[in-house]
Amino acid sequence: MCGIMGYIGRKDGYPMVIDGLKKLEYRGYDSAGVAIMNGTLSLYKKQGKVNQLEQYIHNQKTNGNIALGHTRWATHGVPNDSNAHPHTSESGRIVMVHNGIIENYGALKSFLVTKGFTFQSDTDSEVLVQYIEWYQITYKLTLKEAVRRALGDVDGSYAIVVLDSLNPDSVIVAKQDNPLVLGIGVDEIYIASDASPISTYTQEVIYLQDGDCAQLFDDGTYTIFDLENNTVEPSITTVKCSNDNYSLEEYDSYMLKEIFQQPESVKACISPRIDLDNYEIVIPEIDNHKRIFANANKITIIGCGTSWHAGLIGEYLIESLADTCVEVEYASEFRYRSPIIRENDIVIAISQSGETADTLAALKLANEKGAFTYSLVNTEGSTIARHSDAVSYLSVGIEIGVASTKAFTAQVSLLTMIALKIARIKGTMETKEYKSIVSQLSELPTLIKKTLETNSMMHEVASCHYEKDHAMFLGRGANFPVALEGALKLKEISYIHAEGYPAAEMKHGPIALIDEKMPVFVVATNTSALSKMISNVQEIKSRKGQVIVLKEEGQDFPEEIADHIISIPQTHEVLSPILSSIPLQLYSYHAAKMRGCNVDQPRNLAKSVTVE
Ligand code: F6R
Repeated sequence: MCGIMGYIGRKDGYPMVIDGLKKLEYRGYDSAGVAIMNGTLSLYKKQGKVNQLEQYIHNQKTNGNIALGHTRWATHGVPNDSNAHPHTSESGRIVMVHNGIIENYGALKSFLVTKGFTFQSDTDSEVLVQYIEWYQITYKLTLKEAVRRALGDVDGSYAIVVLDSLNPDSVIVAKQDNPLVLGIGVDEIYIASDASPISTYTQEVIYLQDGDCAQLFDDGTYTIFDLENNTVEPSITTVKCSNDNYSLEEYDSYMLKEIFQQPESVKACISPRIDLDNYEIVIPEIDNHKRIFANANKITIIGCGTSWHAGLIGEYLIESLADTCVEVEYASEFRYRSPIIRENDIVIAISQSGETADTLAALKLANEKGAFTYSLVNTEGSTIARHSDAVSYLSVGIEIGVASTKAFTAQVSLLTMIALKIARIKGTMETKEYKSIVSQLSELPTLIKKTLETNSMMHEVASCHYEKDHAMFLGRGANFPVALEGALKLKEISYIHAEGYPAAEMKHGPIALIDEKMPVFVVATNTSALSKMISNVQEIKSRKGQVIVLKEEGQDFPEEIADHIISIPQTHEVLSPILSSIPLQLYSYHAAKMRGCNVDQPRNLAKSVTVE
């Protein structure tokens, strides 16, 4: 994974690079570093987050018109100072930042050892910079030629920025299976893993394509070429200046802020897509391809983690409302089977970041197999968006907390609208029922606001259970993925082991885990499954489990069998997963805080998982 930010031009690059690294920390935050060129090379790198690097550099020399920065998510080698990027070659002359994995680094390293090279780190990246130097020395090559030749021998993925400190009038960049964006300014060029840190300075960007390399000069000129040294014509895209709000406002974390933003974020996602006067759902991406959606044999939804959970809810919605067969696949598994994708199939890729490597690889396979590909992403201009036949944006603004919250509720809202839209095109719903759901959908922001009033209750429940090392989440129907999502949220930010199950499956094994130390969250907001859920709760209570029930206001629930009852606003059953996920987000947040965890940047994780 990792984030790259670089600058070459006339100004001092460091302030832009450190600011950019903070915006790219979603890609990894276990160590960070910068290299600055000002006659000589200054190199600073440190285990920890970007602000720790910034403190470390404070009062040091930071002026220089070339700066390369990196924030790391460890793949090869533990997070420590020496494994942090930038890495340098044996002579110290060549310096490089890398995002990706050099898969044949073992063979290259063994070769270099026979040539007398020594290594300071355990990383695959250091092997590449050393290998570039080997080419440069052995064949007396320019940096450009040495990079090009070295990359020809590499298996794996990379986005790299390389500088020869003895010829500091240019840098070489290259990209394969990891994103790299150039920002073209006046007499200057920015380099970054995505366009967001660049767009503050220039809106003219070039998204490098796989196999592209470029030489960027300090007067702002550049050439793009491929590994065979053929010239590549640049394709310049204009992006919007980022107006992302990085302020925490009154919140102690981005996660809490994003949970409380959900009335507005869901509104931003749904309002432009509902024409209440005519009860129409307006999704041009579907309207423009009506025939494809009307005649689809099958829709396959792909995604990872929370986005996969949203896809599971989408399956319930699209099958029940639009009578279309849906399969939901882990993107990471999809391409390692022989997925059956036929003509007239649609593949929907769901991704908050739009950069998840597994989802991107699955999407590319779907494209190769001839499916119509449709992506639901949050980040505009992201790689997944650019590789799809059609894209609908969540429009919830930047999500910074690693645990996805507002993106999830927007994904489910959008999938609900997609299900309604396809149902309308195919005529699979009674008009009365359709209008009732559309009208209740428009009420969602208000209902979410009311649901957030469960915050103090969830704090209280967390204070009873935060010290327990396990938790179970149960649901039926579309609330089963809500249970999975509740469990994922809890484990990723509080490090409590948690499992999500379909409630009826409990008796087939997991019930053996129930005792007085096991909090069990029962998502029982779907009235059609209520009586069965009550029986499941009785089974847990008989085994002394601690039961926390999530139900709808007005639902008749035997209070005596639950330890806590959380009531959320009543709505149509197809919309209830959006509301029922919110108290579970709040529970995870409170439990994690009580355990002293960093809810925004949990250990071992990154917001955008750009390695397979
Ligand atoms: C969990 C979480 C992850 C992501 C997953 C996919 O809170 O955020 O499970 O959902 O890594 O990421 P995107 O949606 O960016 O493809």
